[in-house]
Amino acid sequence: MLMPLADANNYLFYGDNLEILRQRIPDDSVDLCYIDPPFNSKRTYFQIYNRIGFDDVAQAQAFIDTWVWGPEADQGVQEILDNAQGRFPPQTVALIQGLRDVLGAGGLMAYLVHMTLRITEIHRVLKPTGSFYLHCDPTASHYLKLILDAVFCSQGGDFQNEIIWHYQTGGVSKKWFGRKHDIIFWYTKSDTYQFYPDRIKIPRTDEVLRRIQSGTPGATRATTLTKFPDDVFDIQALNAMAAERLGYPTQKPEALLERIIQASSNPGDTVLDAYCGCGTTVAVAQRLGRRWIGIDITYQAISLILKRLDDSTPANQRAALHDHLIMHGVPHDLASAQALAHDPRDKTRKEFEKWAILTYTNNRARIQHKKGADGGIDGVAAFLTGPSHSAKALFQVKSGHVNRATVATLRGDMAREQAELGILLTLQKPTKPMIQEAAAAGSYIHPLFPSRQPEPRIRLVTIEELVDQHVRWMMPMTHDAVKSAQTANKSLKDEQIRWS
Ligand SMILES: C[S@@+](CC[C@H](N)C(=O)[O-])C[C@H]1O[C@@H](n2cnc3c(N)ncnc32)[C@H](O)[C@@H]1O
Repeated sequence: MLMPLADANNYLFYGDNLEILRQRIPDDSVDLCYIDPPFNSKRTYFQIYNRIGFDDVAQAQAFIDTWVWGPEADQGVQEILDNAQGRFPPQTVALIQGLRDVLGAGGLMAYLVHMTLRITEIHRVLKPTGSFYLHCDPTASHYLKLILDAVFCSQGGDFQNEIIWHYQTGGVSKKWFGRKHDIIFWYTKSDTYQFYPDRIKIPRTDEVLRRIQSGTPGATRATTLTKFPDDVFDIQALNAMAAERLGYPTQKPEALLERIIQASSNPGDTVLDAYCGCGTTVAVAQRLGRRWIGIDITYQAISLILKRLDDSTPANQRAALHDHLIMHGVPHDLASAQALAHDPRDKTRKEFEKWAILTYTNNRARIQHKKGADGGIDGVAAFLTGPSHSAKALFQVKSGHVNRATVATLRGDMAREQAELGILLTLQKPTKPMIQEAAAAGSYIHPLFPSRQPEPRIRLVTIEELVDQHVRWMMPMTHDAVKSAQTANKSLKDEQIRWS
């Protein structure tokens, strides 16, 4: 059943956006939607088109940026072709049929099926005056435009712009012209839509100013300071030193989202980002006084967004921020933690591990993405032991059976990695032999707190303690997994903050 979204609230959903769009977001409820879905465009184009070598379903993980043909794609294509519930316009069904004939069952087609299902839902949830911005790159933009035309233009909507986002970061190549742009398609649900170019005027370049002033006798500086942006956005991508960078690999600059949100929505309107990553859309929407809905399938993104919102909200407005923030999908008790641990879509249990480690450390550990020589280590943190010294802590998470050997393995990992501390987070309660094995690892006196009680080198923490007793790891850290977003230094205009 679709839940009406309560007015004046913001929503952060942790989960698959298709499910959330279908189950939670009502028809005609969103003014502006921007999405920046993942696509693994680092493969060569030849491979993407010809499906060479990358469709090993056995390697597939439910939550990673890799597109493979598997049961989900099969089911999706069937749903579109059967169209049992009449969700898809005939043009969409015919297009998918044709694309399947041309592309076959491969990664690119899996991606396009995934996108068709979601774009159809985004079209449904947009208000008749709503706008949709789809951010992609040249690898698949031509296919996505076909899908957008089939979903939007067949139902009275229209294509407004292909925006080129031009940036200068990244290296140069001698093999081809530098690839320095992304594509953002702008579609509207009808021909009655919002667009406010006056709000997004940009400074003219010196060159343009010179031309205008030389060709326009008497032109004053005031008349030549701004111009409306065209469909090429020259906005710097975030480089390694950028102040707003949070360490999320695909983070987009706030200036890009600010231009889109200002141009296509008003304060108080609802902005949706169904692939919200570390929350650029959400943070800008919040700053500009829009209501927002963010959805992401990884817990790292959700935890980063929460921290970003807190860091960028002045202290006296944080209570209001939380009063109006409704979260869905984040485990809050043992049953929901167990459900995440046994989510059949997450074949690698990575989501459960991320959630457990990031929750226990208040987002301060790093998640180990690749398990190589380091065996079963799921997370690492460096904690401060002196003005310029740090020590290592290792984290392991177990959603299944645990026994003494589990603790012994962690001890072995700690010795190999020269880690001072080890934390084992488990769904099951530790057995007596586990407790004995942990105790045999000895205790640790923190050099900064010599008078404190020695603490066990190996800590056994249950998920129940995590969710019911809110047990957390309190340690001075040197490596925060997330950098603090800068506290908003601009004072927001009153009318932009609906809840203040
Ligand atoms: C390219 S990133 C978005 C980055 C974002 N624009 C920002 O500035 O941080 C894509 C995001 O989509 C999320 N994602 C992928 N598949 C998803 C799905 N089915 N439902 C919800 N989120 C998904 C990923 O976890 C990732 O965070």
